[in-house]
Amino acid sequence: MNSKANSMENPSPKEIQDLILPFQYPLDHVGIRLNRPEQDPELNFFSVIKDRKSIRNLKPLKEKQLDYLFWFAARVYQASVANDYILSHRASPSAGGIHPIDILVHRPENSFFEYYSPFEHHLYKVQLEQEIIQSLLCHIDLAFPNRDTPLLWFLAHGKRTKAFYQNFESLVWRDAGALLQTFQLTCTALGMGSCAVGTLGEPFISSLFGEDIVSAGGIIIGNI
Ligand SMILES: Cc1cc2nc3c(=O)[nH]c(=O)nc-3n(C[C@H](O)[C@H](O)[C@H](O)COP(=O)(O)O)c2cc1C
Repeated sequence: MNSKANSMENPSPKEIQDLILPFQYPLDHVGIRLNRPEQDPELNFFSVIKDRKSIRNLKPLKEKQLDYLFWFAARVYQASVANDYILSHRASPSAGGIHPIDILVHRPENSFFEYYSPFEHHLYKVQLEQEIIQSLLCHIDLAFPNRDTPLLWFLAHGKRTKAFYQNFESLVWRDAGALLQTFQLTCTALGMGSCAVGTLGEPFISSLFGEDIVSAGGIIIGNI
């Protein structure tokens, strides 16, 4: 029997990590400092997992809601350095603590995307080709027409996980699923709704970022 048919190889840590350069997004130099909640909401965890569901017709967010969502779902809680790489602990698990997935956000009032910096809890405007952005947004509109709520987009940097693991590919996709669930549960906990976006946004994401980045889909978020 060919046990390898339809299966992927097991990931395993490399003894010596590859050296890779950090990806440089074309960012504005000055970012927006996002708000931080004064206290954590008091909630019953089991109500949150029971109430999580995909909600498609969402209402616009109120001030600070996006900030709080990022604060709980995506910021870095703890960081450490291993062989020149920064590993971190966040709400979502990630193979090796590498967190290869970056998050962009499109707010409906803007014609551009912003990059979420999980270390600073800041947003930075990304300078991208406007025509491709518009085509990407029209493409998303086909699945979520008349969206007037934010869209988060996940960009997977497989090279980061590849630097640490042989057969890294499945790890990145498992990280993407974990991140999606972290955002959905956090939305529920904050009284917000969300829905995953199944399209990968291709060929637009590849045109914007080149072949080092793989689109890992998106999620729309808003009020219920
Ligand atoms: C990876 C993924 C992609 C999805 N893509 C879409 C989508 O493009 N449009 C949509 O309306 N729902 C999408 N969904 C939501 C699913 O349809 C939804 O999770 C499913 O119907 C189960 O409903 P529930 O999440 O409320 O339990 C997606 C869900 C996942 C996990």
